Amino acid sequence: MHEHDTPSIAALIAAQKPGYALDQRFYTDPAIYELELEKVIARNWILAGHVSELAEVGDFKVLKVARESVIIVRGGDGAIKALANVCRHRGSLVCLERRGNSRKFACPYHGWTYDTDGRLIAARSMPDGFDKSAYSLKPVSYGEIHGLMFICLCDEPPSLESAIRDLEEPMALFDFPNLKVAAQKTYDIPANWKFSIENYQECYHCATAHPEYARMHTLMLDDEKKDRVQNHMLENMEACGLKKIDIDRIDTAARPGEMGYGYSRTALFSKYKTGSKHGGPVAPLLGNLKDYDGGGSDFNFGPFSFMLAYSDHVVAYVFTPTGHKSSKCEIYWMVRGDAKEGVDYDVDELTWLWDVTTISDKEIIVNNSKGVHSRYYEPGPFSGMEKEESSYIEWILRELQRPD
Ligand code: FES
Ligand SMILES: [Fe+2]
Repeated sequence: MHEHDTPSIAALIAAQKPGYALDQRFYTDPAIYELELEKVIARNWILAGHVSELAEVGDFKVLKVARESVIIVRGGDGAIKALANVCRHRGSLVCLERRGNSRKFACPYHGWTYDTDGRLIAARSMPDGFDKSAYSLKPVSYGEIHGLMFICLCDEPPSLESAIRDLEEPMALFDFPNLKVAAQKTYDIPANWKFSIENYQECYHCATAHPEYARMHTLMLDDEKKDRVQNHMLENMEACGLKKIDIDRIDTAARPGEMGYGYSRTALFSKYKTGSKHGGPVAPLLGNLKDYDGGGSDFNFGPFSFMLAYSDHVVAYVFTPTGHKSSKCEIYWMVRGDAKEGVDYDVDELTWLWDVTTISDKEIIVNNSKGVHSRYYEPGPFSGMEKEESSYIEWILRELQRPD
């Protein structure tokens, strides 16, 4: 195709067949990635971890999303805030550490120094009358949902109000505000971010790609078999201190101006109390749970952040775009706040399932990306087990066409 024949992005979206995989250009065209940055990536909340990571005043972590770097810090007033990690002098990154504790951040370039609220407190050799108060680090939108930290790279982010209200009940079951992060790993994935999230959205591949996961998770079963195990869990649920709650405000089902969110619980195979190698517990029961109902709860928080809550631990996955041909998956394993490492849980046991699963996901995502870059690639039809992925794509295409 000659360059002048290349359809516009609008024409490409219009030509996209519903129920089919995306056209090659959605994964390869840097102009589409730029549009995604504006319309999707910078406009939506992304999980930044759990408040327990920043327990003390001055505790900070730095989060990188797309081409942004954000300092998340507990300030002197005890509140957590997010600051753009971009010096107001000539723009250097200010904080080069990934995490730590500090009452101030000194820019490594010329030494401009900021406090934990982002206020400029020292700048050498500036002319008389230089007004430091006009050069604070810029604030980044920050929000919390029952102990989970989120940031958004725009000043008018989607409202979290309904998510906070509707997710309060299911999140209270696992006592989310009092969890702690027992382990965290980052997986770099050399493929466009949509490959990573599309893969997470469907379990059509689970039976073929994840022998470990497929041993315990029932998502890849057909509906009749799934119902049978599901009913068994539902009968046990209440005695275990859980409740049947279903919320679907995900993607296209989100209310206008609000972050999408969802909750549901799915049974594991009967031998499995939790997502562990042998099916036995790997940490103390969460919240006020009394026993294992043999289920795992799926949480959705906006387009990049997902969570699986077993009865004894929570696994959070954040898929972060890092460039048009690269992304990363950050996983947080969380347990109850008072659990002690080495006594109540073992990090290797806790992380085993989703470490092996994510390593194999990375491989299939990269293979997917390689094939899609081929001149022989043509988008194929989705199966009945890829409905969530299909509606995710529908949502992205809708967002890319936002007029504002
Ligand atoms: S760029 Fe930060 S002090 Fe100069
Ligand atoms: Fe997978």
